[in-house]
Amino acid sequence: MKKLPLLFFTLFILSSTFAQNPVYKDKNAPIEERIDDLISRMTLEEKVMQTNQWTYGKNSNPNNIEDRMREVNPMIGSLLYRATFPQARNQIQKKAIEDSRLGIPIIFGFDVIHGYRTVFPTPLAQSCSWNTALVKESCRISAKEAWLAGCDWTFSPMIDVARNPRWGRVVEGYGEDPYLNSVFCVAAVEGYQGKDLSEKYTIAACLKHYVGYSMSEGGKDYHYTDVSDQTLWETFLPPFEAGVKAGVATLMSGFNDLTGIPASANHYTLTEILKEKWGHDGFVISDWASIRNLTNQGYAKDRKEAGLKAFMAGVEMDMMDNIYVENLPQLIKEGKVPMERIDDAVRRILRIKYRLGLFEQPYVDELTEEERFLLPEYLEVAEQLASESMVLLKNDNQTLPITSNNKSIAFIGPLLSDSVNMMGSWEGMGKAKDVYTIIEGVKAEFGDNATLNFAAGCEFDGSDTTSFAEARKAALASDVVVLLMGEKKGWSGENSSRSSISLPAIQEQLIAEMDKLGKPFVLVLSSGRPLELIRINSLPDAILEMWQPGTMAGPALAGILSGKYNPSGKLTITFPQTVGQIPMHYNARPTAVKGLGYFQDVPKEPMYAFGHGLSYSSFKYGEVKLSTEKISKDEKLTVEIEVTNNSEVDGSETVLWFISDPFASITRPIKELKYFEKKSLKAGEKSIYTFEIDPMRDLIYPNSKGDKILEAGDFYLMVNDQKVKFELVD
Ligand code: GLC
Repeated sequence: MKKLPLLFFTLFILSSTFAQNPVYKDKNAPIEERIDDLISRMTLEEKVMQTNQWTYGKNSNPNNIEDRMREVNPMIGSLLYRATFPQARNQIQKKAIEDSRLGIPIIFGFDVIHGYRTVFPTPLAQSCSWNTALVKESCRISAKEAWLAGCDWTFSPMIDVARNPRWGRVVEGYGEDPYLNSVFCVAAVEGYQGKDLSEKYTIAACLKHYVGYSMSEGGKDYHYTDVSDQTLWETFLPPFEAGVKAGVATLMSGFNDLTGIPASANHYTLTEILKEKWGHDGFVISDWASIRNLTNQGYAKDRKEAGLKAFMAGVEMDMMDNIYVENLPQLIKEGKVPMERIDDAVRRILRIKYRLGLFEQPYVDELTEEERFLLPEYLEVAEQLASESMVLLKNDNQTLPITSNNKSIAFIGPLLSDSVNMMGSWEGMGKAKDVYTIIEGVKAEFGDNATLNFAAGCEFDGSDTTSFAEARKAALASDVVVLLMGEKKGWSGENSSRSSISLPAIQEQLIAEMDKLGKPFVLVLSSGRPLELIRINSLPDAILEMWQPGTMAGPALAGILSGKYNPSGKLTITFPQTVGQIPMHYNARPTAVKGLGYFQDVPKEPMYAFGHGLSYSSFKYGEVKLSTEKISKDEKLTVEIEVTNNSEVDGSETVLWFISDPFASITRPIKELKYFEKKSLKAGEKSIYTFEIDPMRDLIYPNSKGDKILEAGDFYLMVNDQKVKFELVD
């Protein structure tokens, strides 16, 4: 009888040692137990390799051209995946599963910023649609195309609140407002990640660039960012907090030197805020070689110190510069990196791999290109989002839409048959050959009912006016002229800052030439940023900012010009009068001397303000109604306003609700967007828009430590041109 316990013990040891299915491979075991089991089996080398990302194929970003990996190391944690076919991914994954000791799957990442092969409008453009559901749908489609190409993870959404249009990367975020970036951040995370990351066609999202990168000095990319803690908490952190609360899997640290402690080595932001205060349980990847860049910034004397500072600050994975692989083993041996930290980092990376289901489903379906990309339903969403992103800035004499038949229309400008620039920067795996150009769009839309005259007019830039004559001829032969001008895709995006945000002189010259002909004319702009229009704004009868609309550029624009689509876009970033007015954003602090202190040589207002956008409909706002004028901290205040579409044209109207807190212990912006709602209104239709003010959400503000402050006193609710007071009592 005594031998029984020994027998059981022996059997247990034998079974757990030679178990066919150790806990870490047991899909029925809880993820945290699987991670514990796996980490207990890993060698130091295997752990360190998980903290490393190389690239497979050359990155398309001109600043990151490198193909680090020739032969796959089967223990590599992640690959930046530049192929578009699933077979390569599956072959690499097979090596990782079968040729490594523990068979830990690789996570394949890629920059799916505004589409994978179906290219949607740029994120800045998308935000001007104010259509969160549509943005979420575009991310779901992007995730499916990316997943079927072999990607598990996107380095998106970029949620850097943008206040300086000289900075090229304003194109990649959702504009100048923290709340708007928060709302679209959540829509993107939900679109990419779905409800269950382990489901097919869902991919891990990645909030970037954490944090404060858009404050690059003077708009010059990669430069110092002087961000006070107060500004950090009230402007740049809110979108990241919203994304973490929405369950985002990962974040990417920024290039920027954040007020003396670079964002890729900032323990306060990366650990104290992100992990300890917000409880984020995924992982942080560095930006491309942003750990090595700590030596450029003078924060680390060499690669080893850069690796130590970044890793201990809270960056779990090293994108591309191999510093962790080269230095962590030695740093651990020297006791500078405790084993608990490397285990915590690996735990976070493995947790996302488990949540993605990579241990159970390491391979993706191998479908044909036709089955994977550019499906008709994808293109429909792309066209709708592109048309809803376009902003009608000016429309004198109802020049638009161009409706009556038998008209002759001149389409002039360098964008006419353009396809490359229509996609904007970070076009993913989008191909110019897929783009429906403007000329294709307008021929399909107008061709049967109008005479179309085309002329290049001028190049994007340069000084060649020889094609002006042809443009004049086309214009004089037409009833209405449409000029298509703007930026090249490479004039915005990473490392694409510009000291001037004007159209090139040759384009302004052609606009002035067209103005002399006395024809009604429409200026269509394609840009990745707000433009300085002060010299030409009065010349066209109508101005439409179409941004960089993506694959369905032509049909979307043609639909707006013909009235098939009623423009509903509103600006989410201010168009200043001149570049000299920057920084210029709607939610600025009040000036010390009321109404004074502005530039003498330009009007103090912007050329086109945040929230500006015209429609072919006209919307009449009723009087705003409050459910009460006094609430306590645990009560809600319901505000309503009736909006009527008092035109004959069906349209959509977005109501923006702002709150002003004129007196507080820390000064507050003149007003802050707190809610918005977009609705379709048929001709003559009325609708009540409602905003329920929750003091604990809408009346609080952060101090420089991130504490949420709520103070009794007077507040103002602002909607359209109305401003009504209400009181918060203790
Ligand atoms: C770049 C960008 C980052 C991108 C990464 C990978 O330098 O800053 O946004 O995700 O490299 O391409």
